[in-house]
Amino acid sequence: MADKEKIVKIAGLTGSLRKNSYNKAALMAAKKLLPENTELEILDLSDIPFFNEDVEEEGIPDSVLRLKEKLSEADALLISTPEYNYSIPPVLKNAIDWVSRGDDTPIYGKYLGLLSASPSPLGGARAQYHLRQVCVCVNLIPLNEPEIFIASAHTKFDEKGELKDETAKELIKELLAELVKKVRCQREENG
Ligand SMILES: Cc1cc2nc3c(=O)[nH]c(=O)nc-3n(C[C@H](O)[C@H](O)[C@H](O)COP(=O)(O)O)c2cc1C
Repeated sequence: MADKEKIVKIAGLTGSLRKNSYNKAALMAAKKLLPENTELEILDLSDIPFFNEDVEEEGIPDSVLRLKEKLSEADALLISTPEYNYSIPPVLKNAIDWVSRGDDTPIYGKYLGLLSASPSPLGGARAQYHLRQVCVCVNLIPLNEPEIFIASAHTKFDEKGELKDETAKELIKELLAELVKKVRCQREENG
């Protein structure tokens, strides 16, 4: 089978647990903008407990094991992060902390597509730059372009949560295409 026909699996994450989250809606929009032979599964972080080394020693919780498994199966990640107090939400950082532990960290060396949505005029830019710093530690490789900040998010989605902003859609499409290109190159390099 030609590599172009091999499925690329992307795991989608957001730090928002909110039902009507703009960032979750952005990931939903991404599902409709995927290149050929690409899948995007949005992973749920709502049942991941707070990281605690005592809990870890007693045994990794099932929800974390499931998350690690899903991330292992993924070729790349797509994160749409909210901005909380100029940084990333604890839900997202907590999930990264859990999966960064041990010898089998499932995100190490994988490519990451990054976006953010916020009602503010900056669209979550500061959170993205904090997330980029965390990526260094876990060797997640965020793409530099296109940068996607869905600013004034309350005006960019309709009442059903559909992304209606054509510029944002075009950029997400571009980001996904770039992400898939990187994964296919990585596969070639790794044989
Ligand atoms: C604790 C808290 C802190 C926030 N801080 C910021 C901030 O620093 N910058 C910003 O743009 N929005 C901030 N917001 C607003 C969020 O961007 C907004 O709630 C957004 O809708 C959250 O993403 P979601 O729609 O995916 O849940 C904050 C919200 C909360 C709850």
